[in-house]
Amino acid sequence: MDRRPIGFFDSGLGGLSVWEEVNKLLPHESTIYLADSRNAPYGVRSKEEIVELSLKNTEKLIDFDCKLIVVACNTATTSAIEILRDRFDIPFVGIEPAIKSAAFLSQSRRVGVLATKGTLVSDLFLKTKDAYAKNIQTITQEGTGLVELIEHGKLNDKQTKDLIEHYVQPMINEGIDYLVLGCTHYPFLKPYLKNILPSAVEVLDSGEAIAKRVHQLLNLSEISASLSDKKKSSHKFYTNKSALIMQEFMDLVSIKGDAHFDLF
Ligand code: DGL
Repeated sequence: MDRRPIGFFDSGLGGLSVWEEVNKLLPHESTIYLADSRNAPYGVRSKEEIVELSLKNTEKLIDFDCKLIVVACNTATTSAIEILRDRFDIPFVGIEPAIKSAAFLSQSRRVGVLATKGTLVSDLFLKTKDAYAKNIQTITQEGTGLVELIEHGKLNDKQTKDLIEHYVQPMINEGIDYLVLGCTHYPFLKPYLKNILPSAVEVLDSGEAIAKRVHQLLNLSEISASLSDKKKSSHKFYTNKSALIMQEFMDLVSIKGDAHFDLF
């Protein structure tokens, strides 16, 4: 039995949507979450910068003695996961837009993908699209500005709702039946998406699949905590920007825990 924590990092608060899924499936596992909000958004940065930031976050999580690292950011995964796996001797779980599932499920053969620029131009995304979604029409849209609004806790603002509508309506007009959320910040917008999308359009994100993969990898590597550790599990949340903003966000999305400031 291994009670060391699972580490998570994201460019900011978005990866908390992945943290929620992992915690729901594995409540007996302790966790450490790093929100690199000082450097958000990653999606407009170069691959080199994203790799640099991902290495820095990983080193911090290893200093915290994490046993497995979840790269809770599509942009960091698509740019850096191979380098992280080469560089560090620790299991990693990354996250990618769920286009494989969408291509499999779609009846209209048209799916929408809302993601950051960094993800949409990455080799990994283009390879996955080519391998699994060649025979369907994929309508991609950069979610420019959404990460910043979410980082400022503006989940309920008209500005945020208008921007989502602006991005999603053209895809609806094109006849999509699945909308893939390719950025871990976007699942927090699901309540508004439900209002905008016709009932025939389903939203897909990768959070649940990531939780299952974490579970599988912990078992395979024999580093799971004991199920009886549920009461002893602890959760630490760090940001390098504002603990107050992070705390307000966590309260808003009903994640229990205390946000702390740390320089990393
Ligand atoms: N949550 C990150 C992702 O999944 C946001 C990227 C960004 O900071 O632009 O891609």
